[in-house]
Amino acid sequence: MKTLATIQRVMAVAGGLLLATGCGPGGGGGGNATGGANTPAGGGEIIVGEYASLTGKEATFGVSSHNGTQLAIDELNAAGGVLGKRFKLLTEDDQSKAGESATVVNKLIAREGAVAILGEVASSRSLEAAPICQQAGIPMISPSSTNPKVTETGDCVFRVCFIDPFQGTVMANFALKTLKAKRVAIFTDVKSDYSKGLAKFFKEGFLKGGGEIVSELDFNGGDKDFKGQLTTIKAANPEAVFLPGYYTDAALICIQAKQLGLNVPLFGGDGWESDQLLKIGQEAVEGNYFSTHYSPEAGSENGKRFVAAYQKAYKGELPDAMAALGYDSAMILADAIRRAGGTDPAKLKGALAATKDFDAVTGKITINPQRDATKSAVILQVKEGKFKYVETINP
Ligand code: PHE
Repeated sequence: MKTLATIQRVMAVAGGLLLATGCGPGGGGGGNATGGANTPAGGGEIIVGEYASLTGKEATFGVSSHNGTQLAIDELNAAGGVLGKRFKLLTEDDQSKAGESATVVNKLIAREGAVAILGEVASSRSLEAAPICQQAGIPMISPSSTNPKVTETGDCVFRVCFIDPFQGTVMANFALKTLKAKRVAIFTDVKSDYSKGLAKFFKEGFLKGGGEIVSELDFNGGDKDFKGQLTTIKAANPEAVFLPGYYTDAALICIQAKQLGLNVPLFGGDGWESDQLLKIGQEAVEGNYFSTHYSPEAGSENGKRFVAAYQKAYKGELPDAMAALGYDSAMILADAIRRAGGTDPAKLKGALAATKDFDAVTGKITINPQRDATKSAVILQVKEGKFKYVETINP
């Protein structure tokens, strides 16, 4: 059952009941359709495209992100849509594969007529599709890609999460202060823009804080045997290993590190977040830490309402960061369409850029001049086969 807060909030987004002040071009002023929450005017649909890794190596990223996005769209539509129109979400699977994101996003824009694109989670895939959106003049919102280059693509590309210069610094300070590690090794996935960027920003922050990098080695995402590099890392005698990779590789690396007797903490960034990390890694990931965007244990009122709605929609499953950010990306899009008075791309871009203090489930979202969101990070620890909330780090 929906709470009153849910209903009020959805109606506010859907029916334009909140006062919009100082919004971008087309926002606020006259000319907004009046179709409120109770009077869906049937004036066509708003076609939103989404691309996600629903299958393949990072399938849990895409599935979670999509579940969150779909929940937002369903809530919006249940409240009558926006400006009298309902949303139609068209989701394409990029199969976690290089090359596919460009293909499916082209299709969503050119063939399906999407007025905005939501996606991706992985930075390399967002970087692949962003130029297509930019060229077409269609706004793209990445829910959770953190590499800074994503929004540098151009003024059509937005995100609702923090970026890796911040995340890298958070984990550098965490290593120094909480792990009390001065000598750290870095193990990077050279196939991933996310991993390379996060390794670089971590290193900068760690050196600045007085730490020493004793070994820097690479792997290729999808590899199965990491023992050669791990042997070299062990020989360098680090106090901890920073592993900015995705969950499948991270879990296998934790297992093989234990097998080699490399018994120091391994820690990573948001790319670790998947229940697959626990399923594959088992006791080898126990005790390890990573940073991410959100914890269902540390939510605002709106965050708590979201957790309940998500659990109701998805068989009691708890939402992870990707689910929460997927949800936020769709809600922010809907809010911008309402403030823009429609889906004209230039006006929509302006309204997205003017997003200010939006009460999102992952925290308040203001889109900054770089089209990123400045937000807190949370640190989670694997404890008894679960992710346990440790702390929140503010920007
Ligand atoms: N931030 C990662 C990237 O840019 C993706 C990710 C986001 C993974 C959130 C897990 C949770 O590639």
